[in-house]
Order: sequence, then C-alpha cells, then structure tokens
Amino acid sequence: MEPAARLGALCLALCCLGGARGLGSSDSHAWHKLIMVHHWPATVCKEVKDHCRDPPAYWTIHGLWPDRSEACNRSWPFNLEEIKDLLPDMRLYWPDLLHPAPNRSAHLWRHEWEKHGTCAAQLDALSSQRKYFGKSLDLYKELALNSTLQKLGIKPSTYYQISDIKDALVSVYGVVPKVQCLPKQGEEPQLLGQIEVCFSRDLQLQNCVEPGQPAGLGLEICKDVVFYPPLNQTRH
Ligand SMILES: *[C@@H]1O[C@H](CO)[C@@H](O)[C@H](O)[C@H]1NC(C)=O
Ligand SMILES: *[C@@H]1O[C@H](CO)[C@@H](O)[C@H](O)[C@H]1NC(C)=O
Ligand SMILES: *[C@@H]1O[C@H](CO)[C@@H](O)[C@H](O)[C@H]1NC(C)=O
Ligand SMILES: *[C@@H]1O[C@H](CO)[C@@H](O)[C@H](O)[C@H]1NC(C)=O
Repeated sequence: MEPAARLGALCLALCCLGGARGLGSSDSHAWHKLIMVHHWPATVCKEVKDHCRDPPAYWTIHGLWPDRSEACNRSWPFNLEEIKDLLPDMRLYWPDLLHPAPNRSAHLWRHEWEKHGTCAAQLDALSSQRKYFGKSLDLYKELALNSTLQKLGIKPSTYYQISDIKDALVSVYGVVPKVQCLPKQGEEPQLLGQIEVCFSRDLQLQNCVEPGQPAGLGLEICKDVVFYPPLNQTRH
C-alpha cells in the first residue's frame, strides 16, 4: 500500500462515520440506486486502530445510500425524537462503532441522515426520518446478511476466494453485491470489510455495478483472496 492510499484507508471509518464529504454530488441530486451498506465491525475497528468499544460480532448497517447525491437538504436537521420507537433496533443493528456509549450512535445517525437520508427522501417510501431509518432497518432484516453468510458457511477466521463469497451471495439474493476490503498492509492480508447490496428506486434488488470507480473512501473492491477476520483479532 502506498502511504497515500493507506491514509485513504484510514479515512474509511473516520470519514464515513465521522462526517466528511465523500464522492461527488450532482447539482440535480439525481440518483438511480439505493445501496444498503453493511460493514463488519472487526474490520472497521481494526481500521481505526481499535478505537471501538465492545463492537458487535455481527454485520451491522453502515447506511442506506443513494448512489449519486449527497446532502440534498441542509435545512432538514436530524431529529432523534422522530425515530424514538426505532431506537432499540437502531442501537442493535446500526451502532456507531466509533462513538460508543453512553449516547451511542446518534452521531452516526445524524451524519447518515444529513448526507444520505435527505437525498433518499425523494422517494415517498423514504420521505421522513422515521421512514428512512425504519425502511433501512427493514431492508437490513430482509437481507439478513449476517445469518445468510453463516448459512452459506462463510465464517470468520477464514480465508476465501472473493469470487466464492460473491457467487454464494448471488445464489441467495439473485443480484451481484459489491464486496469491499481493507487493503493488504504489509504482512496483513486483505480484510473483508463491507458488503453492499443494491436496490432500484422502487426498492427492488438490483446488481451493484462494479466499474473501476473508488469503492468509497478507504475501502476497495476485494481481489483474489480475502481474510474474514474474527472480532477478537482487533483487541489488544
Ligand atoms: C450473526 O451471525 C452469527 C453467526 O455468524 C450468529 O452467531 C449471530 O447470532 C448473528 N447475530 C445476529 C444479530 O444476527
Ligand atoms: C428541506 O427540508 C425542509 C424540512 O423538512 C422542507 O421544509 C423543505 O421543503 C425541504 N427542501 C427541499 C428542497 O426539499
Ligand atoms: C444524546 O444525543 C441526543 C441527540 O444528539 C442529545 O439531544 C442528547 O442530549 C444526548 N444525550 C446525552 C446523555 O448525551
Ligand atoms: C478468537 O476467535 C477465534 C474464532 O473467532 C477463536 O478460535 C479464538 O479462540 C479466539 N481467541 C481468543 C483469545 O479469544
């Protein structure tokens, strides 16, 4: 890894979770696809040098992102009150790994709403904070990535050919996901980090196309052999 790329990699969780602008936005805020982004806490925590506390041992939600627009409405602030009834599920499935308890996760949720939710809100199905976060949780539960991987026999502490993981997911979802990794660093193997599953604007599953575009901050598209790290590997 080049130092610059490495730095970019560090940006993965910090920027994504912490709140920086990302890939380009268009003036028209036109978008075509919604990306359900799951991440693997062990990899995220490794990336931030273990600045996590009690990360969960299951795939959690990073966000639900329209593909080509960001921060569509800066006068629509995040309001925790609106998603009060969702909080138990939000804390469980959408935790902010970098800003732990006591006020776990409102930081991430605000960021996700302001950057992505305000654009997703173009759809009637996502046109309020309650709808956006509620629908995201529904999609996450429907996809059930965590248990799907387990059923496919894809388990932590194991090396995989990335094509095997992808093919297995295609066999379940019927569409091609995007699988992203933390790049190889020295002796450390490439680590499985993020899995994206895409939806059309009418919330039907669709392929996540995979051109050479940057995968999103520090993560890159996985190549060849990847390691699916166990959680405890991130602890010192
Ligand atoms: C996630 O999957 C693991 C097995 O890989 C399972 O032990 C765990 O209960 C699951 N957790 C959730 C929240 O689905
Ligand atoms: C932005 O959000 C505010 C608050 O919900 C709303 O009143 C306004 O119409 C929105 N603006 C646009 C351009 O959608
Ligand atoms: C938790 O976050 C909410 C929303 O950001 C804030 O209003 C509240 O004061 C915070 N509570 C604590 C205990 O920090
Ligand atoms: C770490 O996790 C792996 C499997 O996830 C397990 O085999 C190993 O015993 C664990 N090590 C410790 C020190 O807990």
